[in-house]
Amino acid sequence: MYKRILVTGGAGFLGSHLCERLLEAGHDVLCVDNFFTGTRRNVTHLLDHKSFELLRHDVTFPLYVEVDEIYNLACPASPIHYQHDPVQTTKTAVLGAINMLGLAKRLKVRILQASTSEVYGDPTVHPQPEEYWGNVNPVGSRSCYDEGKRCAETLFFDYIRQHRMPAKVVRIFNTYGPRMHPNDGRVVSNFVVQALKGGDITIYGDGDQTRSFCYVDDLIEAMLRMMATPADQHGPINIGNPVEFTILELAQLVIELVGSRSKIVWKPLPSDDPRQRKPDISKAREVLGWEPKCALRDGLVKTIDYFDGLLGVSAHEGVE
Ligand SMILES: NC(=O)c1ccc[n+]([C@@H]2O[C@H](COP(=O)([O-])OP(=O)(O)OC[C@H]3O[C@@H](n4cnc5c(N)ncnc54)[C@H](O)[C@@H]3O)[C@@H](O)[C@H]2O)c1
Repeated sequence: MYKRILVTGGAGFLGSHLCERLLEAGHDVLCVDNFFTGTRRNVTHLLDHKSFELLRHDVTFPLYVEVDEIYNLACPASPIHYQHDPVQTTKTAVLGAINMLGLAKRLKVRILQASTSEVYGDPTVHPQPEEYWGNVNPVGSRSCYDEGKRCAETLFFDYIRQHRMPAKVVRIFNTYGPRMHPNDGRVVSNFVVQALKGGDITIYGDGDQTRSFCYVDDLIEAMLRMMATPADQHGPINIGNPVEFTILELAQLVIELVGSRSKIVWKPLPSDDPRQRKPDISKAREVLGWEPKCALRDGLVKTIDYFDGLLGVSAHEGVE
């Protein structure tokens, strides 16, 4: 059924892919973004689409529009960006959630929150099931994001209890793919950009820390399925790829796929950086009938391709 759908943070990495998928499905998309970390470039190819509208707006301020569904993605997502102005990050997470929940309540429509695995902080339980409450430092340099997102979840569940809203929360684990920000300090973009430039690849810590990496197309599919669940399915539901790789393995794979001569260099681990992060996706399998399909190697090839185009460098630069 055709809908008018609001995507906040729609000019960002995940948001732009979501807008694309919603347009493909025949919906009208209103993409709202303040372009803090997102860019018009991410949605340039959609600007001529008759069902696409782009609005510059900061979600910390109320928004009055008429839509049938809301995806709330607006929030800087990488430490470099969310620590740039931590007060604004908390405001975006919390006031953004309040404003979008208020809009959803007034319109009586579904709303889905893009929450994060960071709500688990530095977990003491592996893999993390949704029931795990997390181990979060409330006063660290990552707290503006972690606690902001936790508070947003609280708001979602209070709106659900207080106003019986069909609101939904997904907890997103590390996702990668084309249109990631090239300088966001996230591990995949860092390694790919470093390898394409033929520079050193920096590993923080000993490289034994593990991460799981979900390709963007898989993630967007899970978000769409979550939105389509019955009204009383609120989550939170973990979405991500449970296959673990060490950071060192990722670095070696990127070097191999780029065909780069980059060397690995080591730096100290920043504070509050989790040792291990892996989703328990049993609930997503059961409720959404979903699991990731794209293997890391395949997703990396597409991601490297994107960055290669973006940087305008040859994938083989730096190779004999
Ligand atoms: N990519 C991941 O691995 C990941 C993991 C966990 C959670 N998430 C969540 O998914 C969402 C999207 O993340 P992403 O990776 O696409 O990041 P991104 O930075 O590319 O996208 C966020 C978008 O929100 C916009 N934005 C930021 N503050 C805003 C404000 N006040 N008003 C309006 N727009 C604003 C940015 O300009 C950007 O376009 C975020 O909420 C993030 O917390 C992402």
